[in-house]
Amino acid sequence: MIARTVYLGFLGCGNIGGGTYHLLERMRTDLEERFGLRFEVKKALVKEIATARKDIPASVYTERAEDVFGDPDITVVCEFMGGAEPAASFMAEALRRGKHVVTANKVAFANHWDRLQAAADEGHAGLYYEASVGGAIPVIRTLTEALEADRVGEIMGIVNGTTNYILTRMSKEGSSYAAVLADAQRLGLAEPDPTADVEGMDAACKIAILASLAFHGRVRVDSVYTEGITRVTAADIAFGREMGYTLKLLAIAKRAGDTVEARVHPTFLPDSHPLARVDGSLNAIFLRGESGKDIMLQGRGAGEEPTATAVVGNILDAVLSARPARPSFRVTAENAFGVTENWTTGFSIRLRAVDQPGVLSRVSDCFAKEGVSIATMMQKGAAEDGWVQLVLVTHPTREQSLRRALENLDPAICAPESVIRVEA
Ligand code: HSE
Repeated sequence: MIARTVYLGFLGCGNIGGGTYHLLERMRTDLEERFGLRFEVKKALVKEIATARKDIPASVYTERAEDVFGDPDITVVCEFMGGAEPAASFMAEALRRGKHVVTANKVAFANHWDRLQAAADEGHAGLYYEASVGGAIPVIRTLTEALEADRVGEIMGIVNGTTNYILTRMSKEGSSYAAVLADAQRLGLAEPDPTADVEGMDAACKIAILASLAFHGRVRVDSVYTEGITRVTAADIAFGREMGYTLKLLAIAKRAGDTVEARVHPTFLPDSHPLARVDGSLNAIFLRGESGKDIMLQGRGAGEEPTATAVVGNILDAVLSARPARPSFRVTAENAFGVTENWTTGFSIRLRAVDQPGVLSRVSDCFAKEGVSIATMMQKGAAEDGWVQLVLVTHPTREQSLRRALENLDPAICAPESVIRVEA
């Protein structure tokens, strides 16, 4: 078969760009035989040619973005720059000029989806983003293709490998957050600046994308409640273990009628939950369809090679599809779900309380006044300075009721030290 050459342009050429380049090279014969396509990376935009990676021919490098989206031969542009800008503007320009765009960049995509979709519509081009969530896990495809005939009502995901690695080691070793983070950085498993991962922003972008696709309407990143793992202590994890819970940073989105919730926070899961067993840097996404089907997808959520497989899959989609990919709902700035902050969940509350008769009933009265029902209570240790450690786990309750109950606690008799949500 005589292969047709497809010219690609890269915006950025770091780990994922390099991984994609090499994967295309390794698959060259295979892609020619199976699809009759030969892929050639014609231009790759880098900040500085002098410091660009050396395992790719220097002749493809350019420092001018126009060389990529202005080249008439290039039909597919792959974006690997990371960050919101200039990545979003470059992608929009490429789309307007009729080039399909494949991106691994959840920050630019989740925050500028409306602008990018408008540019794609203008240029009659397709926008592909499988690699933006879950690396090698085909979760976008599952939501947009396989589950079109079901309605997904609930998503719970471990979508950040860095935080899952840190929490797994804290659980197994009883070590502190700071010690494990420092070690993970030393091993190259956490970024030198880990903020986006550990504060939950990376997971917030990802759940905004997944929830939008699952619920067929835009869930904006800034409406995702976001709490990271920086305040998690070894004591919280140890108390959770005693109660049969595993701690994970979960990205959660649920829909009931027109009400949508989207949140990222440390969460206790029963040890028997399938997500509780997803350890180390693995990612997993648990989907609950309204037809009663539960689906869990698990795999490598990051890394050069796993992410490159998702990118190359999307390049093939772009070239082989009769019509450019489009979401099945309108992605505009105005057309977004209103998102509630008054979801229902369980809570585990660790507090220090004065060890005196009547204190427990005063604490539980405070919760009862807000309709919060306590499922279990555990008192730990002997009184030191007249204070003891208490852990209370509530039945599922409204977030706002719990917040009011905490505000009404009397600081003279008790001081909350941590509040962790509990999902079933
Ligand atoms: N920083 C992400 C993680 C990978 O730790 O999972 C890229 O999305």
